[in-house]
Amino acid sequence: MAYGCRIGPSILNSDLARLGTECRRMLDCGADYLHLDVMDGHFVPNITFGHPVVECLRKELGQEPFFGHRVREGGRLTHSSHLMGSIFVDMHMMVSKPEQWVKPMAVAGANQYTFHLEATNNPGPLIKDIRESCMKVGLAIKPGTSVEELAPWANQIDMALVMTVEPGFGGQKFMGDMMQKVHWLRMQFPSLDIEVDGGVGPDTIHKCAEAGANMIVSGSAVMKSDDPRSVINLLRNVCVEAIQKRSLDR
Ligand code: DX5
Ligand code: ZN
Repeated sequence: MAYGCRIGPSILNSDLARLGTECRRMLDCGADYLHLDVMDGHFVPNITFGHPVVECLRKELGQEPFFGHRVREGGRLTHSSHLMGSIFVDMHMMVSKPEQWVKPMAVAGANQYTFHLEATNNPGPLIKDIRESCMKVGLAIKPGTSVEELAPWANQIDMALVMTVEPGFGGQKFMGDMMQKVHWLRMQFPSLDIEVDGGVGPDTIHKCAEAGANMIVSGSAVMKSDDPRSVINLLRNVCVEAIQKRSLDR
């Protein structure tokens, strides 16, 4: 099985005046990557931040030890606090013109550029542009978009993001019926990274993990917890168990 479980906190609902500190706190609590939500007030009815903030954040976080790094030991994904590596930043681009921000985000230090299928008529050149900018490619679909529309691109992307809320705000209710999409994608594309985003936390992780998601975005459930480390660990354990079970069933 080519994919592993990774937990990426969304800092949307954190204290944005202390963004660097909040990101560092999540990494110290075992986050595998950071999921940063960019909103332009047009594609979604909310505004957050753009590439200048990402650039400052990248400088602030630097190339310090990546405490959230995972290694495989005897087939099991385990925690390692020894490995050095850079922090993986997944940009969730909830913007109307995703073509416009590829270069600025690459320069700012983004590792993955996740754009919405609904925001472009021409994903092919955009995928190519993201790759040429040395970033991984994520392709997101809103709840109203069918997974069959994403499928033709699945072999050209690194990750499919199945939104489990209407994009725009943190703290919304998880839409369980989106799990059909996750399950379908996992069956069709066994090694594709599949991310879920929106209302994911201890109460909903089982459904996501069983359906086949392996990149888990969690905003308020992690950020607002008194014990984010435990929440991250719980999300990871459920996800790792589901991956192991699937590999045994194959
Ligand atoms: C919603 C964003 C999400 C959001 C997740 O549009 O894309 O990343 O911050 O937050 P929770 O987990 O609180 O739904
Ligand atoms: Zn997001």
